[in-house]
Amino acid sequence: MDIRYLEKDRIFLIETDNTAYIMGIVDEEGFLGHFYYGDKIDPEDSSYILSLIEPKYTPSENKRDRSSFLDRFPFEYPGTNVGDYRNTGLEIEDSNGNGSVMLCYESHRIFRGKNGIEGLPATFGNEQDSITLEISLIDKIVGIRAVISYSIFEGIDAIVRSVKFENLSDDAIYLKKVMTMSFDMENEDYQLLTLHGSWARERMMDFRSIGYGDTLVESFRGESSHQFQPFMALVQNGDSQDSGKVYGFSFVYSGNFQAGVCRSQFDSLRLYMGICEKNFCWKLDPGKDFMAPEVIMNYSSCGLGKMTRTFHDLFRNHLIRSLYKDKERPVLINNWEATYFDFDSDKLISIAKEAKKCGIEMLVMDDGWFGKRNDDNTSLGDWYVNEDKIKGGLKKLVEEINAIGLKFGIWMEPEMISPASELYEKHPDWAIQVPGREPCRSRNQLVLDITREEVFEYVYGRIKDIISSANIEYLKWDMNRQLSDLGSTGLGKDRQGELSHRYVLAVYALQERLVKDFPNLLLENCSGGGARFDAGMLYYSPQIWCSDDADAIERLKIQEGTSLIYPLSTMGAHVSDCPNHTVGRTTPFKTRGDVALSGTFGYELDVTRISEDDRKAIPGQIDNYHKYNELVRNGDYYRLASYRHNHEYDAWEAVDKDGKRALVTYVQVIATPNGKNKIIRPAGLIDKLLYEIWMDDRYIGAAKGKTLENAGISVPVRQGDYHSVLIYLVAKE
Ligand code: GLA
Repeated sequence: MDIRYLEKDRIFLIETDNTAYIMGIVDEEGFLGHFYYGDKIDPEDSSYILSLIEPKYTPSENKRDRSSFLDRFPFEYPGTNVGDYRNTGLEIEDSNGNGSVMLCYESHRIFRGKNGIEGLPATFGNEQDSITLEISLIDKIVGIRAVISYSIFEGIDAIVRSVKFENLSDDAIYLKKVMTMSFDMENEDYQLLTLHGSWARERMMDFRSIGYGDTLVESFRGESSHQFQPFMALVQNGDSQDSGKVYGFSFVYSGNFQAGVCRSQFDSLRLYMGICEKNFCWKLDPGKDFMAPEVIMNYSSCGLGKMTRTFHDLFRNHLIRSLYKDKERPVLINNWEATYFDFDSDKLISIAKEAKKCGIEMLVMDDGWFGKRNDDNTSLGDWYVNEDKIKGGLKKLVEEINAIGLKFGIWMEPEMISPASELYEKHPDWAIQVPGREPCRSRNQLVLDITREEVFEYVYGRIKDIISSANIEYLKWDMNRQLSDLGSTGLGKDRQGELSHRYVLAVYALQERLVKDFPNLLLENCSGGGARFDAGMLYYSPQIWCSDDADAIERLKIQEGTSLIYPLSTMGAHVSDCPNHTVGRTTPFKTRGDVALSGTFGYELDVTRISEDDRKAIPGQIDNYHKYNELVRNGDYYRLASYRHNHEYDAWEAVDKDGKRALVTYVQVIATPNGKNKIIRPAGLIDKLLYEIWMDDRYIGAAKGKTLENAGISVPVRQGDYHSVLIYLVAKE
């Protein structure tokens, strides 16, 4: 890996192990152009690269046609309203009410290491494993500087990019739109891959062609959302895992975002990703900075599989900070689907006792333990234990659970307030709302304005008191509604457009304080299932609840979409009861266990009430968890088959980094009449090593890595739907 500035041609060259990203400064005005992103090329050919760029003339040679230069030039960071009519990177309003802005080269520096971003999640690296390039661009007329930074990491084919704005003028500048990333490239008949969804069906893969104009996804719901994921990829060969160019982009942010492509009249593409311009306007005072969240850019010349593994490695090694990243997480049982709101300490203790017998290691008490909350209409904000349910208080309950031999975890939804709560009676103005308009309720709740200091302190105080009041080792931090009625009494009328971003900054500040004060706490984020499953939250919590839909078959799609970007170790996945509470489907207990094994693993059912057979299967599932979790947590992920395509079966694999062990999970979704065995080809093995093949603990035989990868493994067809097989490959010593 290296970053260089080639003085003669004024070219910046960013090289990871297998990719190159090339920018150059053009004309005496100093336009920063994007010239190349792809497989490595010879840096000595930089003059040749320059010769490819159109238009051939620059404004200093041809003032007459300045606009045709600006409207074609492949900008690395485009401004607004100066003669380039494609999508904008930055939009502003200066003190005169004008919006023209054009950023040109000022200076640059290259250094080893990588800086963090105050108040925002950010990838991290040190002087040994990372290098950073910062390029300063300036508009001297407006008085604004943009410092664009690019960082790379040893052994990882990704570039992390961000931008900082500095107001150099004497007046406020309003930032009306800030894309972290924008750059132009040639169209080579790419499709756009994004992930869409809804509650209980998050992160479904969606491919579409890129038409002229803008093709984009966005969220302006105050969180990254169920509906779209802050991710996009340009793909050449559809969802081929191992062929075709792929450009993948992930936003390290948990709030409103926009990600898209603008196809121009000349068939070039402008790619962009940043904070959604809707509900955003930031007043930047003189002398102040604004930092945009990071975008991770990732190029693969060989399909989606490589993109996925690059994201996984980057997130595991340079984003997730929790101690638990490298540890087996306790196998938990959560009482939500077991009891919903109808529980008391006796019920929890009875679940804990039975769970302990099965080998489960932690009890998580979900929603309904505080205030007067017996349904979802009340008490959010009143984070005081309901002693009618939890007799003798939280400390006593936790001691009892610990005495049974289980750890204890708890659920909270700190950002919310129920109109029916003591907190609301005292502080109705603490809810986000627009004066004079009754705020829109969702799940009968409103959102606390945590951008106000007194609200922030109250919320943090309650979390801290609860966590410190007993031996609580895990917190599920939920967020069950999206933002609306954006109004804050804490902000002046010139700053109301800052609320959505400030809200996310406040969530980050709360979680930062929490993880600093309680470094051993295992934090799991959640948002009505998986509406805030994004790279931003992974900076604070090593795992996020994937979806409220824990049906094993629905989870195949949800976990496939999620693992396209995020490591398996981050995906909250549990075995739940049947018929499934979301879709009413009944699947074998084994299949539920095998699918959840590719996530954090746990249970979400009343272990005292399930069938004896299912209960008896739990210890074996937990043995599997202990046997395979290291592999699942740290291994390389390969998607081997997708039910989305073949409509019959699904298969994926985790392979140890040294290639000596692999776990393939195979699910026969639908039985085929008069069907034949399926051939599954594992990947990532070592050609010459001899592997033992085990199917669900049955020894099948042995073969070399090369044979297995090419000829495959034959998985018997079975009668009936929804069967799963765990195929374990282990190299013989
Ligand atoms: C959300 C979560 C669930 C559960 C409920 C409790 O929907 O995703 O797992 O915690 O809230 O109200």
